[in-house]
This record gives sequence, C-alpha cells and structure tokens, in this order.
Amino acid sequence: MSVVELHKGLDNIIVKETVLSYVDGERGRLYYVGYPIEELVEKSTYEEVCFLLLHRRLPKKEELASFDRELKKEREIPKEVIDALNLMPRNAHPMDLLKAGIALLALYDPELNVHEKEANIRKSIRLISKTATLTAYISRYIRGLDYVQPSKEMSHAANFLHMVTGEEIDELSAKVMDVAFILHAEHELPASSMAALTAASTLSDLYSAILAGVAALKGPLHGGANEKALEMILEIGSPERAEQYVIDALRAKKRVMGFGHRVYKSYDPRARIFRKYLEKLSEVKGNKTLLMIADEVEKVMTREMKGKGIFPNIDFYSGSVFTLLGIPKEIFTPFFATARVVGWAAHVLEYWEDNRLIRPRARYSGPLDLQYPSVENR
Ligand code: SDX
Repeated sequence: MSVVELHKGLDNIIVKETVLSYVDGERGRLYYVGYPIEELVEKSTYEEVCFLLLHRRLPKKEELASFDRELKKEREIPKEVIDALNLMPRNAHPMDLLKAGIALLALYDPELNVHEKEANIRKSIRLISKTATLTAYISRYIRGLDYVQPSKEMSHAANFLHMVTGEEIDELSAKVMDVAFILHAEHELPASSMAALTAASTLSDLYSAILAGVAALKGPLHGGANEKALEMILEIGSPERAEQYVIDALRAKKRVMGFGHRVYKSYDPRARIFRKYLEKLSEVKGNKTLLMIADEVEKVMTREMKGKGIFPNIDFYSGSVFTLLGIPKEIFTPFFATARVVGWAAHVLEYWEDNRLIRPRARYSGPLDLQYPSVENR
C-alpha cells in the first residue's frame, strides 16, 4: 500500500467546493453565500436565510412569501409520531429523543426515497419545520407539560419559543430567537455536517443524512458544549468565583466549554453577536448575573490562554441567552440541531450535484500473514 499521510481529525482537509458559507478563521469572519453574518442578523430573518442556503441566492419578495407559507404549512407532525413520543422514556436526553423522532418522521414522509431536486427541497422544508415542532414537543414532554400547538401566524423563531415556553413572545425575545436561529444555521463542515455528507455520499436519503448530523452534534466537543458551558457558569455562581474556577480547570487540564475552535483562531463572530443580545436581554429581564459571570470567565481565559488562539465560540454566551429566553438547558443542543438542519440539508443538496462516495483510508500498522492457531493452542 503506497505511503499516505495521516490527517488525524481531517484537520484542514478540503472535501468539497461550496458557496454556502465561508469561515475566515484568521479574521474571525463568517459569510453565508457571500453575505456577512452581521448583515443577515441585522436585516434578514431565519426564513430568508433558509431560502438563501437552499437556493444559494436571496429570494424575491413573492418567493419569500411563498417559501414562508410552505414552512408554516409543514409545522404539524403526524399523530403517530406524537403517540410514539408519548411512549418514550421521559428522562431520556432530548438529543436521543430527537434522533428517535426524526427517524419516525422519515417513515411518514411520502417522498422519503424520491431523490429529485424538487423533492429534496420539499423534504428540507418539512425537516426545518417539523424538527422545530418536534424539539418544542420534546421540551414539554421531558417536563411533563402539555404540548403547545404550532401557530399558523407566528414567525418560525417566535413560534418555536412560544411552543417551548407556552408564553406570549415579546418583540425582543422574538428577535433574539431569530438571531439565534440565523447564527446556528450553517457553518461549513463541522463534524456534524461531515457526518451528514458521508451518509449522503452513499446516495442514502436526506432524513438519514440529517440523522447522522444530529448524532454527531450531540457530543460535548461540538453541539453539546452549549449545555455544558451554561452548567459551568451556573456552577461558578458568582463573578468573584470565576477566576479560581477557571484556573483550577486549566490546571486539571480540563476543557473550558464554549472556548476554542478548530477553525476560528480568533474571536468567533457569532459569540460577539450573542454577547450583544445577552447584554440587551439582561437589561430588559433585570438579570445581569449570567452576563457578569460569563464576562469574568472570558477575561480569565483570555489572560490564561494568551497566544494559544483560544477564544469564546458560539456556545459560550448562547446558553445564557437561551436561559433568559426561558429555554431549558437540556434543549440547547436540540435547538442547535433544529437550526442547523437547513445547513446540513443545503450541503447535502450541493454535494449531490457532483456526488462522490466518501471513502477515506486507514494506515494499517498491524502484522500480516499470521498462522491461525486452534483455540487450544492460544
Ligand atoms: C462548535 O467546527 C465547527 O464549526 C463547530 C461549530 C459549528 O457551528 O458547527 O462552530 C460549533 O462545535 C463550537 C465548539 C464547541 N466546543 C467546545 O466549546 C468544547 C471545548 N472546546 C474544545 O474541546 C476545542 O477547542 C475544540 C474541540 C472545539 C477544538 O479543539 P481542537 O481544534 O481539536 O484543538 P486541540 O484539542 O488540538 O487543542 C489545542 C490546544 C490543546 O492544548 P495542548 O494539549 O496543545 O497544550 O488548545 C487547548 C488544548 O488543550 N484547548 C483548550 C480548549 N480548547 C483547546 N484548553 C482549555 N479549554 C478549551 N476549551
């Protein structure tokens, strides 16, 4: 076998061309189809970003209206899936319930194994809307609360938050939720997108690819970090205790959740945006504790990790924002999956236009041509 170089973790290995997003790790910039994330957060909506990612261009006014109607139409999930959810262990981790739920949704999609482009766009729309409803139902189910039915009028973000909290959603909360959806929508090829792409490259179906993405996102090194970062902030409990906590963690060689990134060797622009909205929410809700603790942790990490390219990532401030919005911490990663369904789907549809089975190698380092000993002689 010819000598091949080992790329552990596939660091910096390019596996596809894309126009969907550009992550500038050195400058800490993020673009979706060429538009700076800051522009989209300020001027766009999650619905429009979904169109942008699936069609790789911004919609005309009527196209957006029609796309939005389609998303709203697909919010309901089949009764059979709800009945099945009601039989699942209430104390299961919501990411495990979400995997089970999406696997069931696949069974009730009549176009599951139809692989034309238009059918894949329709399936993407169904997955975007139904995964949001499923995650909201799961958030109620694990707390023993009644389900809140999807609204026919509210925006995607406001509807999700309403279905999770059961409350009326004020303008600022709706805006912050929409920003959170936009910030989580797409990010080139993290482990979860690569998992989705690998499944898709065998010409399996879109639901299977999304399921692979959800499975990969669960891990604390990836999507699971938002829940762990908030647990850390709550464990610290007050700004005064942040310094010692971080120093002890680093001394014990622990990973401080919400910091560091394989690509960003600078401040994650999404963390910067989240901190801005956390400040606004903290002001309005009259609760600055989470913000003050987070700021202290950031200050100590910046000093202690100076020169190592370790900065806050999307998961550091997001959990504090979600908490002030009334989202339980067990739902942080399922929310991340819900928002990222469009990014996974967009990469899969783009890859299928020039598909190639993904099949890397492993470098063999074991013995060869061994004689097989009988079990008595081992
Ligand atoms: C997401 O890829 C994406 O785009 C993902 C994401 C997306 O939108 O999809 O951006 C979302 O997953 C963000 C990342 C969330 N994960 C965390 O916050 C978990 C904590 N972070 C780390 O585990 C780590 O930073 C990773 C996994 C995110 C990236 O690490 P790498 O690139 O594998 O770097 P590494 O493990 O080789 O670490 C390099 C050095 C090590 O020190 P040394 O062994 O060389 O002395 O930096 C240290 C690490 O110990 N380090 C940290 C650290 N992250 C790296 N030390 C303390 N705390 C941390 N968080």
